[in-house]
Amino acid sequence: MTIKTLIAQLPKAELHLHIEGSLEPELMMALAKKHNVALPYQTLEEVKAAYQFDSLQSFLDLYYLGANVLQDEDDFFQLMWAYLCHCREDNVVHTEIMFDPQTHTDRGIGFDVFMPGFLRAIEKARAEWGQSCLLIMSFLRHLSEQSAFETLASAEPWLAHIDAVGLDSSELGNPPEKFARVFAKAGELGLLRVAHAGEEGPPEYVWEALDVLNVDRIDHGVRSIEDDALMARLAEEQMALTVCPLSNIKLCVFDDMTQHNILALLDKGLLVTVNADDPSYFGGYLNQNFLAMAEHLPLTEAQLRRLVANSFTASFLPDETKQKWIDAVYAVAV
Ligand code: ADE
Ligand code: ZN
Repeated sequence: MTIKTLIAQLPKAELHLHIEGSLEPELMMALAKKHNVALPYQTLEEVKAAYQFDSLQSFLDLYYLGANVLQDEDDFFQLMWAYLCHCREDNVVHTEIMFDPQTHTDRGIGFDVFMPGFLRAIEKARAEWGQSCLLIMSFLRHLSEQSAFETLASAEPWLAHIDAVGLDSSELGNPPEKFARVFAKAGELGLLRVAHAGEEGPPEYVWEALDVLNVDRIDHGVRSIEDDALMARLAEEQMALTVCPLSNIKLCVFDDMTQHNILALLDKGLLVTVNADDPSYFGGYLNQNFLAMAEHLPLTEAQLRRLVANSFTASFLPDETKQKWIDAVYAVAV
């Protein structure tokens, strides 16, 4: 079996996926038409041509623009349904999906619109092929602490369906510490915690996410490699990093895939996982990320299995379920 076939056949978990970043140009254009929303693109080709980024912010500007087409319950159903169908195709048996409430509430679209749409799609995928899903509610860090607190309050009726909180959007200038009190409150409510840190931001932001936000995982974290003491801490605690290879190339965190440090992080004993981040903007879903690594990095079969097993270890699944999937990862014959 080639490494390509093995990538397809391994059961996988995805732990870093923004549902708004899975909005494909086709659905964006269809919903723009449905709701009469003006977009600065006339054709699918123009949308795709616009997806050239030189920084996280240059991507976020288009990501928030695209999200404007999401308006009613069925739009959110379709968005979630399309992503879950990709999970089935890529053999992603478990996924922990981030959503950004403020991207919608700031436009007057409330939890009572997007949550029923998301949950209807998740239930359908669960019923049709046993898809396993958790939800992570992410706060936009360029907005205020007050806005994050308001979001947490609005989420209270939905907390039975939300497993964790996250922190995303513009990293530089918005350190984790800004959200210390919101994360403390989320912890009191029984929510797990993750945060983007060390994507564009410095290693200090990873320290803060660990020590001030008490996170259970770090999203990205690739810049941790600049700080030996931090690397030792991450290895010692087996703190997971949800690394997103194609995203890091598209956003110029590394010049090209041959320069990516994911295998170095893995070799230094960190609990590294592979994820798609915003697949419709960055050139592919989860298997595409592994395929790009296989093409441009000296990825061995053992490293591939380790990365995939890590995706279950680092997940928020119960221990017995994690072990069942890890056994399945090592049982796939070559
Ligand atoms: N929101 C969506 N994708 C993101 C990323 N890669 N970093 C920060 N915020 C995001
Ligand atoms: Zn992300």
